[in-house]
Amino acid sequence: MTTITLHPDFRVGPVDRRVFGSFVEHLGRCVYTGIYEPDHATADEFGFRRDVADLTRELGVTMLRYPGGNFVSNYTWEDAVGPVEQRKPFLDLAWRTVEPNLVGTDEFLQYCEREGIEPMMAVNLGTRGIDAAIGLLEYCNGEAGTKWADMRIANGREKPYGVKLWCLGNEMDGPWQIGHKNADEYGRLAAATGRAMKQVDPSIELVACGSSSMMMDTFGSWERTVLSHCYDVVDHISMHAYYEELDGDRASFLGSGTAMEKFVERVVASADSIGAEKRSDKRITISFDEWNVWYLVSRFPGEANLPVQRDAPRIIEDRYSALDAVVVGDLLVTLLRHTDRVAVACLAQLVNVIAPIMTEPGGEAWRQTTFHPFATAARLAQGDALQVQVTDGPVMATDKHGDVPVVTAAATVDPETGALALFVTNRSAAEQTVTLRHPGATARIEGGTAVLADQAGARENQADAEAYGPVDALPVAHGDGLITLTLAPESWTAFHGTLSA
Ligand code: AHR
Repeated sequence: MTTITLHPDFRVGPVDRRVFGSFVEHLGRCVYTGIYEPDHATADEFGFRRDVADLTRELGVTMLRYPGGNFVSNYTWEDAVGPVEQRKPFLDLAWRTVEPNLVGTDEFLQYCEREGIEPMMAVNLGTRGIDAAIGLLEYCNGEAGTKWADMRIANGREKPYGVKLWCLGNEMDGPWQIGHKNADEYGRLAAATGRAMKQVDPSIELVACGSSSMMMDTFGSWERTVLSHCYDVVDHISMHAYYEELDGDRASFLGSGTAMEKFVERVVASADSIGAEKRSDKRITISFDEWNVWYLVSRFPGEANLPVQRDAPRIIEDRYSALDAVVVGDLLVTLLRHTDRVAVACLAQLVNVIAPIMTEPGGEAWRQTTFHPFATAARLAQGDALQVQVTDGPVMATDKHGDVPVVTAAATVDPETGALALFVTNRSAAEQTVTLRHPGATARIEGGTAVLADQAGARENQADAEAYGPVDALPVAHGDGLITLTLAPESWTAFHGTLSA
């Protein structure tokens, strides 16, 4: 039987609230008819949909990455600032879509500010370079008296935005990326751009592009080469990973969290090997700035096949199942187990495009199944992540990842209040019993909710029917120094309670 052992003194480290980030790219209907739809009944005076903003708040999103994604690698940010009526549409080559430039840097940053969300900006290192990047940074963060800061002020925004987090390009290892580079070329450019950006504003944090997935041929050597150029300049290395059920291989899909864990550990090893060579005390952390379930291989025809589109086309609007919600919950378990190294993470994306929130033009925004584990974890995971020992449990054979544990778990405790959150996945089709040990500490589980891969009558949500949502966890029994938890088959459960030494 699986045993989970916890003690409040054994901590991984503080949960960086930026792990509950998401992503807004100029792609399909993420921006237009997603967050922004001036004709919508709930639109505010700036044209942003209130219903979407309210669901974003309910989702618990702390940070938004913008404007791409592949989109950023051919973006001219200057074309999307200043009077809207003077902005010209451009053909975005990444998604072969005409971008109307109605929403640009100011509109996005002011939206974040109104909603209390931290922005994370990306600069174009595909078709552009240092000059455009430092110009954009100065536009965003500069004080009055220099060209780009004064342009921002002339455009109606006096106060600098103070954007802290900056991505040095996007997926530059990917041959699909506009302006794709090899690791040496990109590493040099990232170092030079990063250095110049920190001359403009030394308070920023920089993210170098890591691998677009662990399956890239260059994985490992890419991270090492890039960091050998820019280790001293950057703060984070990015990771991107999307998971899907392929060829009916449910076990491998349910084991995706283990694949994500191996990916994190390998990137940490690559980064630390460069740190060791440099005899550096600095530790590079991870910006997992794109993660999700995405039926990329099985449903997406590939961007090269797309005809040129206009007017917010429907691109990669995946519909998520009950099973997908369990996998998203399990991926969150992996992220929370590694908060010592994962500083930033973005569920990609926020609205319509592989997203937890969906809209119809003129219609009401609604929640996909995957909304629920994210919202629950973002609400409950407070304070410090604990070192959770999961022992004695069964394993499950998978074709893709070998044997994976059936039960996975992460926990957080709030040092101020002693509030405990325990997130547990059961990847198997059988109910699981778990003994929760807390030697030398006092623990109580007060309740919990679960997302199930098989919720009666609710396989997915629809615009007009949100039948799927969290259900009550199975009963918990408190014994003599032990707590017994029961996990429903193929489920992700969030327990809440207290833990103190
Ligand atoms: O999130 C969708 C796309 O996936 C992003 O534009 C790109 O960075 C990744 O390949």
